[in-house]
Amino acid sequence: MFALRSRTLATTMFAFIFSAGLLAAQPSHADDKLPNVMILATGGTIAGTGATSTTTVGYTAAKVGVDRLIEAVPELKKVANVKGEQVFQIASENMTNDHWLKLAKRVNQLLAQPDVDGIVITHGTDTIEETAYFLDLTVHSDKPVVIVGAMRPSTAISADGPINLYNAVTLAGSKDAIGKGVLVSFNDQINAGREVTKTNTSTADTFKTPELGFLGYMQDNAAHFYRLPLRKHTTQSEFDVSSLDSLPQVDIVYGYANNNRIALDAFVAAGAKGIIHAGVGDGSISDAMKPGLIEARQKGVVVVRSSRVGQGIVARNGEANDDQLDFVVSDTLNAQKARILLMLALTKTNDTKAIQQMFYTY
Ligand code: SIN
Repeated sequence: MFALRSRTLATTMFAFIFSAGLLAAQPSHADDKLPNVMILATGGTIAGTGATSTTTVGYTAAKVGVDRLIEAVPELKKVANVKGEQVFQIASENMTNDHWLKLAKRVNQLLAQPDVDGIVITHGTDTIEETAYFLDLTVHSDKPVVIVGAMRPSTAISADGPINLYNAVTLAGSKDAIGKGVLVSFNDQINAGREVTKTNTSTADTFKTPELGFLGYMQDNAAHFYRLPLRKHTTQSEFDVSSLDSLPQVDIVYGYANNNRIALDAFVAAGAKGIIHAGVGDGSISDAMKPGLIEARQKGVVVVRSSRVGQGIVARNGEANDDQLDFVVSDTLNAQKARILLMLALTKTNDTKAIQQMFYTY
């Protein structure tokens, strides 16, 4: 019986508090029958500590190292040969394009090794959906890549980190996860990197794929899939960041009542190569914003119309004449994910027709 749920609270707290402070990393003893899973740790609440066991807000993210995270879940050894690597130790609001480039390169490098069967990335929940989509487009391997985090710090009563990590390692070692793109495993559910989004500031069931639905469950020490992501990803992706040191500047402007173009103009003046407009409704643009976007496009900035609604397709030539304005629509991508695809698209082309096709492909 591997499930952490069966543990007493006292044992769980002992494992976390002592592993967080006192124990050294143990070398894993490889078992030929088990998959080899690398855990790349980047920080976040899963590695967070609070002042007391009831501290679930106002704690400090990114404190506990990867070895201690692994030691706190001894059940991992029963499902995989795990090794840890601390790639960053940050709260995920501080994730940058540079972090993503380093992470994608490291993941590609590790997955090219025959002795690595899958990768788990521990990550702050706030930007998991962005990192997941970035890697979905830039990792060129069929092997499972699973991103995981926690909503409660490691020191909290009923911390969700241990069971989430256990499920993520099980999933990363599962043959059923091969070829399904970068996955987010959280709260016993499996979501696709392209679709998943954080929907609640604090609850443990925060990660959802609104309307389209998650791909499957983690239950009874196994992955159970019911759907597949259909958009191109990983091995089918045309985006290659292996020789890139930076990505083009793409920023997001937001639609709201009493809208203005001040932020837009500042982004363009600062050298933005692309702008994502998170419009109201079906990507509508206010009269106050529209001339700014038209001027930006005339200067060569690629403009993508997304929506702040969070669900549904932004219709091309619907709320704006995209053909005439030479704008692109984001399809179903929210603004933060559209930003990622546009950055990668701009590493290949400035042609808006080609970029529009990418938004219908990935
Ligand atoms: C973060 O995103 O790093 C902090 C919040 C979290 O992990 O839940």
